[in-house]
Amino acid sequence: MRHLMSPLDLSVEELDRLLDLAGDIEKNPDKYAHACDRKKLATAFYEPSTRTRLSFEAAMINLGGSVIGFPSDDVSSAAKGESVADTIRVLSCYADICAMRHPKEGAPMVAASRSKIPVINAGDGGHQHPTQTLTDLLTIKSLKGRLDNLKIGLCGDLKFGRTVHSLINALIRYPGIEFVMISPEELRLPSYMREILDAAGVKYVETERMEDSLGTLDILYMTRVQRERFFNEEDYVRMKDFYILDNEKMAMASEEMLVMHPLPRVNEIAVEVDDDPRAVYFQQAQYGVYVRMALILTLLEIEV
Ligand code: NCD
Repeated sequence: MRHLMSPLDLSVEELDRLLDLAGDIEKNPDKYAHACDRKKLATAFYEPSTRTRLSFEAAMINLGGSVIGFPSDDVSSAAKGESVADTIRVLSCYADICAMRHPKEGAPMVAASRSKIPVINAGDGGHQHPTQTLTDLLTIKSLKGRLDNLKIGLCGDLKFGRTVHSLINALIRYPGIEFVMISPEELRLPSYMREILDAAGVKYVETERMEDSLGTLDILYMTRVQRERFFNEEDYVRMKDFYILDNEKMAMASEEMLVMHPLPRVNEIAVEVDDDPRAVYFQQAQYGVYVRMALILTLLEIEV
């Protein structure tokens, strides 16, 4: 039985196959409409979510399956003190596969070790978010036509942003990937992530200024300052509007640069940018459904 804790749980070949499957699902949705008849997905979310949970639910429903679950810890037995290990043992009796989000790093891994059904990490604290990465990779592959030879600016909260950590892990396996890490000093990429980049020999620079590199990027990946991971509100308030991408800054970027964002957006992208054809963050959310359909089929070993 396979779980998905990190994007590295899939080899590059498996990842390519999964993205191809997602591409086929996008083109031929009817072909997959009954692939998961009578199967159930459990969503166990201990932290807020809109896209991840609902795109998982939409994915399972599109496959003909159904969904059970809870959207927050206060409506589940976690509020009574039940452990994740016990909860997953119970969910294993009710469902065929589980997507779990938790504020504590490693919680889905604990669940996976006790589970009788595949567990998907739907975001664990500031650590990893592999299905957002699958979404991001499908977006890049579909809109840029490749996953190699790209210069990617990662901007915002690189310290706590789990989407950034997972995306780096996945992309450094492709040749010709280069990063510009754009963040305030306090929200710099953690040292363990910099060590991963160094060990892989990946080229990257760190900067506080977005303007300097904008004209050279193939992709600008914006992120939200992760308020819930700050120790005090004062630091958050000081950091929250550090970057605001607006039309004036977009004018410095190339015509081909894609603007991505895992969403939710707060202030870091001005609403005026939404109408720019290079802004693809809502399209990105759509790709998240196809790729989660492909992931469910892959982990349940269902061939269509
Ligand atoms: C991200 C997350 O939860 O890490 N959202 C998402 O799943 N699309 C990003 C964020 O919350 O800022």
